[in-house]
Amino acid sequence: MTTTPFGPEGWTPDRLGSRAGRTYLITGANAGAGFQAARILLSKGAGVVMLNRSAERSAAAVADLKAEFGADAAASFVRMDLADLASVRSAAAEVLATVPRIDALICNAAIAQVPERRLTPDGFESQLGTNHYGHFVLAGMLFDRIEASRGRIVVVASLGYRMGLRTINFADMNWEEGYAANTAYSQSKLAQMMFAYELQDRLAAAGRTGVGVYVCHPGSSATSLIATSGGRLTRAVWWLMTKTPLVQSAERGAWPEVMCATEDGLELRALYGPTGRMETGGPVGRGTLQPHATDKDVMARLWERSEKETGFVWQL
Ligand SMILES: NC(=O)c1ccc[n+]([C@@H]2O[C@H](COP(=O)([O-])OP(=O)(O)OC[C@H]3O[C@@H](n4cnc5c(N)ncnc54)[C@H](OP(=O)(O)O)[C@@H]3O)[C@@H](O)[C@H]2O)c1
Repeated sequence: MTTTPFGPEGWTPDRLGSRAGRTYLITGANAGAGFQAARILLSKGAGVVMLNRSAERSAAAVADLKAEFGADAAASFVRMDLADLASVRSAAAEVLATVPRIDALICNAAIAQVPERRLTPDGFESQLGTNHYGHFVLAGMLFDRIEASRGRIVVVASLGYRMGLRTINFADMNWEEGYAANTAYSQSKLAQMMFAYELQDRLAAAGRTGVGVYVCHPGSSATSLIATSGGRLTRAVWWLMTKTPLVQSAERGAWPEVMCATEDGLELRALYGPTGRMETGGPVGRGTLQPHATDKDVMARLWERSEKETGFVWQL
């Protein structure tokens, strides 16, 4: 069931007042929905620190943002390759040394539909390693700073969590058998959601309720996601789809993540995103959350497995 408590138009950036003095961290913000989220937040006077893998693309994005919002716009970047846990650790250390306040960490970056099985430098299947394990360690390393700022963690998920196995393939997390691009992507996005819901539970159990953890998705949005990591056929199909009304703009795709980073009164055990046809577009509000995403046994097991695989143990 979907609800749009923000009226028929759903949530829009018009609801946002001044964000002066606030700082938002966005992973993968040199392109797509992350870049648009940065634009919206900067337009409201916030500071934005982008955590991106390419220094060149980041410099270009910062230049574009300053051209739009003025040379004083507080847009900066820290280089971080989410696929490489050493890079994640050093980027988190740089953030802790240079960013005194984090109002929200928006876990936005991802790769998708990688046509053949690849491994990250740490030996993880590329989508699981980048999308889930990278953010798992990043959020854990920044958690105390986010808590001290009474900030939020926003996980940008995907309706793909409804596809594939609809659970975690614990026996073969890295798909040594039966790799398929969409199945592995779906597992990685489900893992990100389960991380968020399990974190909510762990924070509640520890009485540490100052950090809001929210989950959203951008619907179908015309970004560079498929062009960056998808195979040739997927790219061609997606390109055609972006020419139809089935796919909305990247800017609209950013609205759910900006809403989750800023709006008061949101529910924790929820999935936010477009609420129109098939929930791929339309007014932004609370969408349908299928129960397999909050399967407690799987969530708890995934958390333990993630700590073991990454070597990063959350201190809660
Ligand atoms: N677009 C959709 O229809 C759609 C649908 C469902 C969910 N989503 C989700 O929406 C989020 C935003 O994606 P998007 O559609 O805006 O895609 P996008 O345009 O490709 O943007 C993704 C961003 O992630 C960055 N990134 C990729 N791998 C990285 C790594 N190893 N380390 C650091 N950054 C990395 C990319 O950097 P580079 O520029 O260097 O590649 C880019 O800045 C993702 O979580 C995605 O799963 C999108």
